[in-house]
Amino acid sequence: MEFKVTPWDVEGLVDYDKLIKEFGTSPLTEELLEKTKELTKSELPFYLKRKFFFSHRDYDLVLKDYEEGKGFFLYTGRGPSGPMHIGHIIPFYATRWFQEKFGVNLYVQITDDEKFLFKPNLTFEDTKKWAYENILDIIAVGFDPDKTFIFQDSEFTKIYEMAIPIAKKVTYSMAKAVFGFTEQSKIGMIFYPAIQAAPTFFEERRSLIPAAIDQDPYWRIQRDFAESLGYYKTAAIHSKFVPPLTGLEGKMSASKPETAIYLTDSPEEIRQKIWKYAVTGGQPTVKEQREKGGNPEKCVVFKWLEIFFEPDDKALLERYTKCKSGELLCGECKRYLIEKVQAFLKEHQRRREEAKETIEKFKYTGKLAKEQWDKAIPEPLRK
Ligand code: TYM
Repeated sequence: MEFKVTPWDVEGLVDYDKLIKEFGTSPLTEELLEKTKELTKSELPFYLKRKFFFSHRDYDLVLKDYEEGKGFFLYTGRGPSGPMHIGHIIPFYATRWFQEKFGVNLYVQITDDEKFLFKPNLTFEDTKKWAYENILDIIAVGFDPDKTFIFQDSEFTKIYEMAIPIAKKVTYSMAKAVFGFTEQSKIGMIFYPAIQAAPTFFEERRSLIPAAIDQDPYWRIQRDFAESLGYYKTAAIHSKFVPPLTGLEGKMSASKPETAIYLTDSPEEIRQKIWKYAVTGGQPTVKEQREKGGNPEKCVVFKWLEIFFEPDDKALLERYTKCKSGELLCGECKRYLIEKVQAFLKEHQRRREEAKETIEKFKYTGKLAKEQWDKAIPEPLRK
């Protein structure tokens, strides 16, 4: 089956090299990773080293701007349509790493408007409620409260004013070509891309957007008109998708509970879901597994370890070899993953509770938040 990647849906087994060509992005090279190491004077996190982040736009220019003292800022987001899952949180961990190492500002857009417009079954009240819940998860990642502004589109209505000059630049045919809108698309959906582009103009320097590659179509449009409004084309660094528990095709999806581990799942739910649904590359019987060995390449459990839950390179390689040789059985790997996910979420949920005390700072009273609430609409957008 051919694969398909849009901001709303991922189907099939994604060929990421092909996607780079299709989207017209650039591969994240060893050279760029080396440069990152050099500038941050740090070891790279394994999701960069192992190329879970695999593609970019203008990341080389971001590093250049940083080196020359112009700096840059970070921008990312979340569409609050339900509980967040393991896949959603990884771009936020990467974003935290960039914030910490480069000491830069971060803007997080929470699109309660988008999810209301795009999801027929959600009310505006629903998406606002999920916005609150999701923001707690995001804060739990550990951002700097004075250098981070988390805003909800329905509250931070200045975003609308910023989107207007953008909306004047994008034609329907351009939006249709990029997003596949049809005669049936609601007019709010057609306007929405202007809202998602607006935060790239929060500062008069380059923005870097860490996100999975499904969001790239928005950046493609932004890069078409940004300079005509006197701003930088945004840069982006793209991740692959965490696969669903149920197989390597598509992406983990919040609307299919059997494919996802939510950040609020209990230890027992984590155990049950991984045990019941995780697809492995094992043989049908223990005897065959011992004789022929397993297929880590086809195994979701191994993928999850590789992507996020086994930071130790040596341990990962050892697991790979032992699986191949038939020494390891799938149950052992599942049990190992269950423990890792439970430990990660126990800590996450503790910090999520604490976030209830600090949410005001991120949304309204922290240094960056206050600055943005008080600031006038940027000059180039007023004309
Ligand atoms: P949303 O809520 O669909 O996704 C939030 C973030 O998670 C990424 N993502 C994944 N990453 C890895 N594996 C997966 N299975 C997976 N599924 C989703 C997304 O790429 C995203 O980074 N329209 C946006 C909200 C938004 C935004 C932004 C996102 C507004 N401004 C700027 C990124 C950057 C949305 O609905 O994301």
